[in-house]
Amino acid sequence: MSRINNFNEYEEHCSLAKTDHNAYWSKIAEEFHWYQKWDSVQSGNFNDLNIKWFDGGKTNMSYNCLDRHLESKGDKVALIYEDNDPKIPAKNYTYKELHAEVCRFSNVLKEKGIKKGDRVCFYMSMVPELLVGVLACTRIGAIHSVVFGGFSAKALAGRIQDSDCKILITNDGGYRGDKIIPLKNIADEALETCPSIESMLVMKRTLSETKWNQERDFDLRTLMDAASPICECEQMDSEDPLFILYTSGSTGQPKGLLHTTAGYMVYAKHSFENVFQVEENDIYWCTADIGWITGHTYITYGPLLSGATTVMFEGVPTWPDAGRFWEICDKLKVTHFYTAPTAIRALEACDLSHVTKHSLSTLKVLGSVGEPINEEAWDWYNRNIGKEKCPIVDTWWQTETGGILISPLAGITKLKPAHATLPLPGVLPVLVDPEGKEVEGNPAEGNLCMKTPWPSIARSIWGDHERYKQTYFTTYPGYYFTGDGAKRDEEGFFRITGRVDDVINVSGHRMGTAEVEEAINEHPGVVESAVVGCPHNIKGQGIYAYVICSDKELQKENLHKELNDLIVNMIGPIAKLDDLQITPGLPKTRSGKIMRRILRKIAADDTNNLGDTSTLLNPEIVELLIEGKKK
Ligand code: WT7
Repeated sequence: MSRINNFNEYEEHCSLAKTDHNAYWSKIAEEFHWYQKWDSVQSGNFNDLNIKWFDGGKTNMSYNCLDRHLESKGDKVALIYEDNDPKIPAKNYTYKELHAEVCRFSNVLKEKGIKKGDRVCFYMSMVPELLVGVLACTRIGAIHSVVFGGFSAKALAGRIQDSDCKILITNDGGYRGDKIIPLKNIADEALETCPSIESMLVMKRTLSETKWNQERDFDLRTLMDAASPICECEQMDSEDPLFILYTSGSTGQPKGLLHTTAGYMVYAKHSFENVFQVEENDIYWCTADIGWITGHTYITYGPLLSGATTVMFEGVPTWPDAGRFWEICDKLKVTHFYTAPTAIRALEACDLSHVTKHSLSTLKVLGSVGEPINEEAWDWYNRNIGKEKCPIVDTWWQTETGGILISPLAGITKLKPAHATLPLPGVLPVLVDPEGKEVEGNPAEGNLCMKTPWPSIARSIWGDHERYKQTYFTTYPGYYFTGDGAKRDEEGFFRITGRVDDVINVSGHRMGTAEVEEAINEHPGVVESAVVGCPHNIKGQGIYAYVICSDKELQKENLHKELNDLIVNMIGPIAKLDDLQITPGLPKTRSGKIMRRILRKIAADDTNNLGDTSTLLNPEIVELLIEGKKK
């Protein structure tokens, strides 16, 4: 029932999900293991913001990912782990083996006092223990919060404090190409300001020298080896929290999006199976990091809930050379390959021999995620990687949506380069004009909103339900506002054009301009700053800063370096400035608001049509900024 096999069935699914949303999702949910069936399929809406799915039901995520498959496919490979070092053979974990590892990890957590509802923070590189650890949390009902290993000690500390995590799990160092990221040292620094953390479990990976706090730090492997490979699952209510994942918004500190158990679980599997169309003996590889939502839903949960084989890669696409992805595809016989446009553009810029050396003959489906994919990158991917025979699924979604909302279904939906195409069943996207009126008919353009809740929508922001309401549901009351702009063509196919708020998308990573400004303003010589996105060939968007300095002697190069040091310290290397300009002022409205529209255009060298500048308090600044940009 849940598998869509052709376009007719897709339309039938959409129609049923629309007319009888409860009947539709109830059928899909029946394929899972429940300790107790739900009383009501869905309740709550975008006005009351008390959204519930499968309320009254009891289930367990880890049981559904692992135990449910043990009888029918216990010896099937669940996880293939590809080491950073290409000389080390890939390591396979069958469903049985993964189950035993997860049980051991669960028992370690219990032994350290972790109980249902406690928050567990992971700050790791892409080691198997990260995937095992998050599943272990779900087994015992603990709430995981994975922090991407590229964030700084301050950023990590902020996230730990926000959700009062009780334990931190890290590794001594993480391999990324020829670099070692000193995760344990960074974690040590973060923990100086995190009193909620009682213990730190350390997985030894790089055998780097680290300090050791005898009372607080424990060797993860030693504990796991001593732990029992059997652990009962905790029976979880459908709406019990599953995980928190922090993401940036247009204002303030990162928000901890809260996802709950059953709805997320049902949607992760259903969307995975239908978008990717994975078959029994396929090998599916998503190149994301588990520190982002893509790694949660489409490395970990979606594939394992489906009983598929998922690949986890520790390294980077360009080490030892730019053929690493393609070498792995051949070596592991990858059938489904899912990556980000920024990686495609970076590899496109390298010599084509890195691709042509490899056969890529096992590939059947390609995917793209994280940012709009430009036509040129789409064509290159299609021609050189897919050999014009693999459908490309351009999957649009967000941390908040939990799963893919708009995407072709591989081999089923007609493709259009750079178009995310059509919504999945049960998803009702609309375009609204600035007044909040739905734009009818096709073609159309507007701000992308959702009309009704889907099962995996984030239920809240950890500790701040009011902010959840403010951020997503007040701009257009009654709708979920995505923050993206989009177009709909004659056939109703969607094309996402990018963020319409103060969020920039750097290499598929979401960055709030306010956060970067906050870091810049820490510099003693800086009076005020404004950060915008600028076009970037590889990253999609780069980070561009306008800076007003009190110290007139500051040289641009020195300032750039000093600001980047500050940014690396406060956020992490992903937020470094690509370029900056020192300016005597910023364009402001009479109410004192910075006119970012103008700054964005100047950063993009798109100054022919700056729009109305007459409402500016200081219109003369515009010419100065344009002049300054040229320097
Ligand atoms: C933002 C969400 C969930 C995927 C990883 C990023 C942009 C994502 C696409 C796409 C155009 C896309 C949007 C969205 N985005 N996928 N296929 N086409 N734009 O998750 O960090 O929560 O960022 O990424 O702007 O709002 P995220």
